[in-house]
Amino acid sequence: MKILSIETSADETGVSVVDATGDFPTAKYELLGNGLRSQIELHNEYGGIFPMMAKREHAKAIVPLLQFALEEAGLLEMVDGGHAVPTAITAELETILEREPALLEALQIFTAKFDKPAVDIIAVTSGPGLTPALWVGVNFAKALAALWGVKVITVNHMEGHILASIYDVVEDDRLAAIEFPSLALLVSGGHTELVLMRNWLDYEKIGQTVDDAVGEAFDKVARLMGLPYPGGPEIGRLAAIARQAKLPPFKNPLPRPMLKSGDYNFSFSGLKTAVRYAIADQALSDTGKQALARDFEDAAVEVLVAKTSHAVATYGSKSVVVGGGVSASTYLRYSLREHFLREHPECELYFPKPGLSTDNAIMIALAAHAHIDSARNAAAAKLMQADGNMSL
Ligand code: KG4
Ligand code: ZN
Repeated sequence: MKILSIETSADETGVSVVDATGDFPTAKYELLGNGLRSQIELHNEYGGIFPMMAKREHAKAIVPLLQFALEEAGLLEMVDGGHAVPTAITAELETILEREPALLEALQIFTAKFDKPAVDIIAVTSGPGLTPALWVGVNFAKALAALWGVKVITVNHMEGHILASIYDVVEDDRLAAIEFPSLALLVSGGHTELVLMRNWLDYEKIGQTVDDAVGEAFDKVARLMGLPYPGGPEIGRLAAIARQAKLPPFKNPLPRPMLKSGDYNFSFSGLKTAVRYAIADQALSDTGKQALARDFEDAAVEVLVAKTSHAVATYGSKSVVVGGGVSASTYLRYSLREHFLREHPECELYFPKPGLSTDNAIMIALAAHAHIDSARNAAAAKLMQADGNMSL
């Protein structure tokens, strides 16, 4: 089964083609094509993501990425002497993409040039994320479905992150056979959640951030320090230098918000404010930036590790799946590994392979395949709505 998947929930536009053989969760998932375009440079220039700007960039990028992914997958065939789309379908496309005239035009040019590719199903992220950005993907999926007569499966982005973290794209193209109960630590620009999984596709959110997401805190602190967007990688880089050089603390110790709250919730906005107070109005030296980046990363990671560890002890988790953009953090990975080796040596830790931490469309194909037969998705697909606040 060839799955064409689309991701537009935040600032990455992704289109992938994944060939699934067998049934979830033991299927083999061969990655045939993968197009990904980041809006990082644009958002860096403006100092953050603006939903309407993100939407416009997705609309610009999506047809070229579709063409790239299909071509890489060997599924793109030029039509001889032009291609006529039936009038009824042309009218349907115009309605679906009525708010996206540039995208409609790009799609019309594409369909005049290329035959219907041999894809069996279309998968698209319908939430959570930035609503205007999500709508681009959802409407584009609708348009392709109308054009090609293929079914659409809508996908929860966070479920995609969980499956991406156990997908071995390097060795055997399969999902790891994780042991349950399992715990997912989801850490991204929009989310910080602990999710208990008693079985495959069975999710119970046991904790979440009460204010900023941890990735958002990395990004905001980076901005306060005059570092580029996204903040995570840059803070990680500077913090590593500070640890290597054993720099003293920048100022007073930073807070560990909600460390002792006894539940599995998080808070990162106070930590960000503490960094703002620590900087006050002074210009930061290079070593000052390094020390402060380290102090912040230490505080954020300590809370993530402690809460995850506490949840593992309470629920007897046999595995922990770490997903989302912040799971790329070297220091988070190191700290979790080091702590679990001591405290929970029986519990297996899973981290995404390179390229699968941050947003991509590969994970959307995996999540769609997991729900291919479920009635729940049949109902959701009929509605085909973007839902910015969708929950697992
Ligand atoms: O999952 P993702 O790509 O998009 C969302 O769904 O939000 O996550 C993006 C977030 C950003 O906040 C970024 O700063 C953070 O992931 N991030 C990192 C690292 N790489 C990306 N945070 C810490 N360390 C990193 N190496
Ligand atoms: Zn994400």
